[in-house]
Amino acid sequence: MQKVRKAVIPVAGFGTRFLPASKATPKEMMPIVDKPIIQYIVEEAVDSGIETIIFVTGRHKRAIEDHFDYAPDLEETLERSGKKELVELIRRISNMAEFIYVRQKEQLGLGHAILTAEHAVGNEPFAVLLGDELIINEKNPGLKQLIDVYYKFGKSVVGTTEVPKEDTSKYGIVDGKLIEDGLRLVNYMVEKPSPEEAPSTSAIIGRYVLTPDIFDALKKTPFGKGGELQLTDALMILREKEVIYSKDIEGIRHDTGNKLGYIKAIVDFALEREDTKEFMKNLILEKAKKLNEK
Ligand code: UTP
Repeated sequence: MQKVRKAVIPVAGFGTRFLPASKATPKEMMPIVDKPIIQYIVEEAVDSGIETIIFVTGRHKRAIEDHFDYAPDLEETLERSGKKELVELIRRISNMAEFIYVRQKEQLGLGHAILTAEHAVGNEPFAVLLGDELIINEKNPGLKQLIDVYYKFGKSVVGTTEVPKEDTSKYGIVDGKLIEDGLRLVNYMVEKPSPEEAPSTSAIIGRYVLTPDIFDALKKTPFGKGGELQLTDALMILREKEVIYSKDIEGIRHDTGNKLGYIKAIVDFALEREDTKEFMKNLILEKAKKLNEK
């Protein structure tokens, strides 16, 4: 079986839910404490065995390229002032993987973004990680859980989690036959159904392992919901040819693409980190006391 070596990370979207912050700065570069969101996602991919990262970018996304590039002037300045640890920290970012950038000229949807990466992927299985979904599991990274399923069956796998019924219209929803704990053989998938239409509450959460046959399926897929080329629709076309699995991912998930999810991620991380947790705990207690007094 071919190794899953490459990951596509689409980051070409406009990030309209984060305007005005995302007007000139990619939303993926916004920090969770002191590390940009996109670096957590690349680290998850690398910890899952990925060697090559293919970013699908657009205009105003230069900061992402700069972040994963060498920064000799910064390193020199840090070196001169004896900040060896920071030099290591900065250098490690650009050495984590091989980085490739592909430009999506028009933002025609997630499916279109994946199709844009076809030449960089070639004829091999590959992973997809959305640039605004964080999945934290230090022992068993989210993407690795899907890659392990791929190595067992050699077929495409989508990462899922259970969501409240009223939230189905925010996700691609999967209906499948349970074959093992958390693992399903997919029957049907639909993008952003209303709670009444949703066939289940099993939602796709921004992690995929795909066979290269997805590219042919994408070429046959008509533009769907929101006038966009939807990856979920292409997966339904792929399913006519080969089986697809869905796997519930174990870990803590943060949707950092919206304001509330972003704030929650920062608070959660700050409560976990050794250098911030005491401060954060005291701050929350102090604020809660003031709110109770009101
Ligand atoms: P989103 O639906 O979150 O879109 O895309 P968005 O533009 O980033 O944010 P909003 O909804 O306007 O606030 C999911 C992922 O797919 C990428 C986005 O960058 C994001 O990582 N994407 C989406 C593309 O790369 N190209 C597209 O045409 C659409």
